[in-house]
Amino acid sequence: MESSRNITWQSSNITRKEREQRYGQRSVVIWLTGLSGSGKSTIAFALEKELFAHERACYVLDGDNIRHGLNRDLGFSEQDRKENLRRIGEVAKLFMDAGTIVIAAFISPHAHDRQMVRDLFEEGDFIEVYIDCSLSACEERDPKGLYKKARAGEIPNFTGVSAPYEAPQQPELTIDTEHESVEQCVAKVIAELERRADQT
Ligand code: PPS
Repeated sequence: MESSRNITWQSSNITRKEREQRYGQRSVVIWLTGLSGSGKSTIAFALEKELFAHERACYVLDGDNIRHGLNRDLGFSEQDRKENLRRIGEVAKLFMDAGTIVIAAFISPHAHDRQMVRDLFEEGDFIEVYIDCSLSACEERDPKGLYKKARAGEIPNFTGVSAPYEAPQQPELTIDTEHESVEQCVAKVIAELERRADQT
């Protein structure tokens, strides 16, 4: 690839482990996937707030937000979604190397794209969380009025309406935002993080 010619990786003098020790935590990527309106952003920001309150260095990468800036050149074709997630995967990797707990909230509808991102990380550094909520419930919530527009044919390639969503087959964690409160969902993610910390 053109971009990989004549470039050499430059290593930092500070290791990820040293940064993790400084922050008293293990960096990790918590990848939230689910339909539009399933509650990804709500859970992501509530989780960030909870971790921050416990003095964790954490940061949310959110689909809508990233598409305002870094990925503003991308749309919602299959190819653009792949590029969106490829870039986010790389950004998440940088944050993780910086010792941060990354909470990534992206529809990430295709299993092969989620696998592409997962492959950027070592086993155990990537936690896929399925934000499980039925299409009918998401459509009923319709917090941004996007389903209504999509049904009216005003938004092409809308996930769940005119573009596919492939639910994860073996996520590390599934949280059911249709039947559980935000607090319960956040507590489940925290419990998973604690379970993993106990294992190391
Ligand atoms: S993806 O599939 O992972 O690349 O999508 P993502 O970067 O998470 O962006 C999803 C948000 O973009 C808005 N939006 C759409 N979503 C799905 N399909 C179409 N066609 C679309 N057009 C705009 C929408 O606000 C999504 O945010 P959430 O929070 O998921 O509702």
